[in-house]
Amino acid sequence: MRGAVVLLGLVGFIGPAAEALDNGLALRPTMGWLHWERFMCQIDCDRDPDNCISERLYMQMADVMVKEGWKEAGYEYVCIDDCWPSRQRDAQGRLQADPKRFPGGIKKLADYIHSKGLKLGIYADVGKKTCAGYPGSLGYYETDAQTFADWTVDLLKFDGCYMDWTLLGEGYMNMSKALNKTGRSILYSCEWPLYEWPFKQPNYTAIRETCNHWRNFNDVYDSWSSVKSILDWTASHQDVIVPSAGSGGWNDPDMLVIGNFGLSHDQQESQMALWAIMAAPLLMSNDPRDICPRSKELLQNRRIIDISQDPLGKQGYRTAKVDSFEVWERPLSQNRLAIAVMNQQEIGGARGFVIRAVPGWKICDPLCNVTQILPQYKELGVQTPKSKLVISANPSGTALLTVTPISSNFRRMLYRQDAIKQKYTNL
Ligand code: GLA
Repeated sequence: MRGAVVLLGLVGFIGPAAEALDNGLALRPTMGWLHWERFMCQIDCDRDPDNCISERLYMQMADVMVKEGWKEAGYEYVCIDDCWPSRQRDAQGRLQADPKRFPGGIKKLADYIHSKGLKLGIYADVGKKTCAGYPGSLGYYETDAQTFADWTVDLLKFDGCYMDWTLLGEGYMNMSKALNKTGRSILYSCEWPLYEWPFKQPNYTAIRETCNHWRNFNDVYDSWSSVKSILDWTASHQDVIVPSAGSGGWNDPDMLVIGNFGLSHDQQESQMALWAIMAAPLLMSNDPRDICPRSKELLQNRRIIDISQDPLGKQGYRTAKVDSFEVWERPLSQNRLAIAVMNQQEIGGARGFVIRAVPGWKICDPLCNVTQILPQYKELGVQTPKSKLVISANPSGTALLTVTPISSNFRRMLYRQDAIKQKYTNL
């Protein structure tokens, strides 16, 4: 197969097939921090006070997000995942935070987060119990939505454990309505399709009308095989899921695990590049109190974040496999294009990829301007359809580029030059 070019899904996806949930939120992919992948369900604060699920953890995250440039880079939501509540509801049937780990309660925590100019996310479950066995919201949607609104929570991640799959849609839609009824703007993050896929193809029109983002596939782990499996799943279902993404509603391939233990730096760059191409929520799950400077720089890279947050709001997709390279492309505003070229050969060293093999390279006719963002920032200058440019990517690494067509400007320039010439020859 050497040299073979397999072109996939060359026809550009058109805009979202359905209206987004009309709550004015998630107009761009959500950015923030979510505790699950890094901190999981560590509830023993006596043994591990720095890392247990407690109000202290979120307050420290908020502090560091402000101090270390995360907020400025766009990371806004500090999100609680599973294991925060008490095992029992209160006398009025309301959820309550574990009193030992959250002595101030969630409202006070929300006030603290808001005082830092950040937003607070919380977690609940559409079924009888959360995935870790805490009280679920089934039978309590309105009560729980109102409780979260009273606490001035800004985002709800609504999981799908312990629920009859035939009732998932109804449950997710009813919670969406309950949130709306509170009158508070609460971003609604769902896992509806993830729990439905084993039984039937989810209805993405309904999902987009109900949720601000939605998980489709398995939980991310701190490993390259996990990140790769998410990319593979996404590419092999792109015809179904890509059209549903757009301003107000996004496919969620799960958290960024950059800055943890399992990914090499090249693999971290691949995750960041591809999450930007996929218009994915950028919810990191790491420990920004103690993170390697290179990972921090990558997560705060303004040029990658600009791709993620591009106002056109279109999700990118895999367009080719060439040798063991994968090409992913995302249409950007002003007719620009983001291209990710991922080297999937996990042996040997850096390999070169001839850029004109990218299917979307046709926007370089007659000319385009190319900027490389990863692995290093580099202006690659003006290129043509026949460009001999070769870009290099390390094993399991990715080169990320943006391409700006200059055809119209160029034509205008030629026209102007022509006009001037004519004026002088007519003299
Ligand atoms: C599920 C979700 C994860 C996380 C855990 C918590 O597995 O998919 O993202 O919320 O539950 O128990």
